[in-house]
Amino acid sequence: MTSRYRVEYALKTHRRDQLIEWIKGLLAVPFVLHSQPTAVFEPQGETVDQMSSNAQRRYAEIMKDVEEMIKDHIAHQKNGTHDRSKLKLLVPSVGTFFTPLQLHDAFLWQDQRRYISFRRFVAPSFNDIRLILNTAQVMSLVRGGPLELVTFDGDVTLYDDGQSLMSDNPVIPRLLGLMRKGTKIGIVTAAGYTEAHRYYERLHGLLDALNASDIPLALKQNLIVLGGESNYCFKFAGDSPDLLKLVPKKEWLLDEMLLWEESDVTELLDIAEASLKDTVKNMRLQATIIRKDRAVGIVPQDGSKFHREALEETVLITQKILDMSSVGRRLPFCAFNGGNDVFVDIGDKSWGVMACQRFFGGIEGGKTLHVGDQFLSAGANDFKARLACTTAWIASPAETIQLLDEIAELDELQQRKQR
Ligand code: IMP
Ligand code: MG
Repeated sequence: MTSRYRVEYALKTHRRDQLIEWIKGLLAVPFVLHSQPTAVFEPQGETVDQMSSNAQRRYAEIMKDVEEMIKDHIAHQKNGTHDRSKLKLLVPSVGTFFTPLQLHDAFLWQDQRRYISFRRFVAPSFNDIRLILNTAQVMSLVRGGPLELVTFDGDVTLYDDGQSLMSDNPVIPRLLGLMRKGTKIGIVTAAGYTEAHRYYERLHGLLDALNASDIPLALKQNLIVLGGESNYCFKFAGDSPDLLKLVPKKEWLLDEMLLWEESDVTELLDIAEASLKDTVKNMRLQATIIRKDRAVGIVPQDGSKFHREALEETVLITQKILDMSSVGRRLPFCAFNGGNDVFVDIGDKSWGVMACQRFFGGIEGGKTLHVGDQFLSAGANDFKARLACTTAWIASPAETIQLLDEIAELDELQQRKQR
C-alpha cells in the first residue's frame, strides 16, 4: 500500500492539473452523448453540422456553469471563506482567482479555431482546456483592462530550451507592440547571472530591437529582467553597453525579502548541493554540479541528455529533503526540472513577479499576467507565479506568439466597442 501510494503520488499527482482534469471530465459527458463515431460508416445519420451544433451548445453551457462557479469562489475569497466554496469542495487544489474567467466565450473562440465540437473520436483534451483557460484569462484581463504588466518566463516561453532570444524571433514585434501601448514587461527567468552582459547574450534580439525602435524613451524604460527567479533585477538602459543596468535592491526588493538571512541562504544551498550529489552518485548520472551565489544545480557533462525519470527523481528527492529541513521552512526556494538540468534557486517566481509589480509602482495581481511553460505542482518553476497574479500556461514559444496575437485581437475588438 505504501509503495502504491508513493507511485500514485510521486508519479501522478504532480503531473496533473486538477482543475483541467475536472473540466475535462465534465466535457467528457456531452462528448459521449453527442459525438457520432458511427457516422463514419453509417452516413445516413446526423450530419457533422447537426452533431457539432448540439455538442457545441452543451459544451458551452457547461463552460458557463464553471464560469459561474468561479465567480462564486471569488465572492467567497472576498468574504474570507474561499475554503468553503463549492468549487473548492470539488477541486481542492484550486487557489486564488485574481479575475473571473470568461469560459463560455473562450470556449466558442477556441472551438472556432480547434473544431472541438466537430470531433467524433477525440474528446476535449487537456490541451484544448489549457488553451480555453488561457483565452478566458486574457478575455477577462482585456475586457476589464487595461492589462498593465505582462511577465514572461524565458526558456520554452520566449525561445527554445537553452537557446537565446535572437533578432529574428517573431515574438519581438509582439512585445514591442505591447510596450508601445504602455504595457510593462518583466522577463522573470530562473537563469541567474550577476552581470548584465550574460543577460544581453541571452536576450540581445529584443534589447537591440527595443533600442533601435522609435518607441518613446519613457515607454522603453518599461522593460525589466528579474533573473534567478527573484534574485537579480536589471532594467533597460539604452546608454549602457549591454543595454541593461543593475537596479539597486532598494528599488525592487520586497520588505519580506530583506529578512532572508545570508546564513540561511548558504545553509539551504549546502543541503540542496549534498542532496544533488547524493542522487548523482546513486543514479550514476554524468553530471556537473554548478554552485552559484543564489542557486545550485546539475547539468549534464558533454552535452548529453538526462532521462526524464532521472530528472524527476532528482527534483522530488531534493524538494522533499529541503521541505523537511528547518531552513526550508524559513526561506522560500524553488527546486525544478529545467528539461535537461535540475536547479534549486533561492526565492521563486511569485517573488519575482511581485518584485516587478513593486518596481512599476504597485501593480495588482488582477492587472498582471505571467506567461510560462512550467505549471505542474512539483518540479516546475512558473507554478509559484500563481500566488502573485493571473497566468497563462503555454507549451512552446509558438503558443506564446498565438497568445500575444489573441491579446492584440481582443484589445482591438475592445477598443472598437468603446469607440
Ligand atoms: P526559465 O525557463 O527562463 O525559468 O529558465 C530556466 C533555465 O535557466 C534552467 O533550466 C537552466 O538551464 C537555466 N539556468 C541558468 N542559470 C540558472 C540558475 O541560476 N538557476 C536556475 N536555472 C538556471
Ligand atoms: Mg521555462
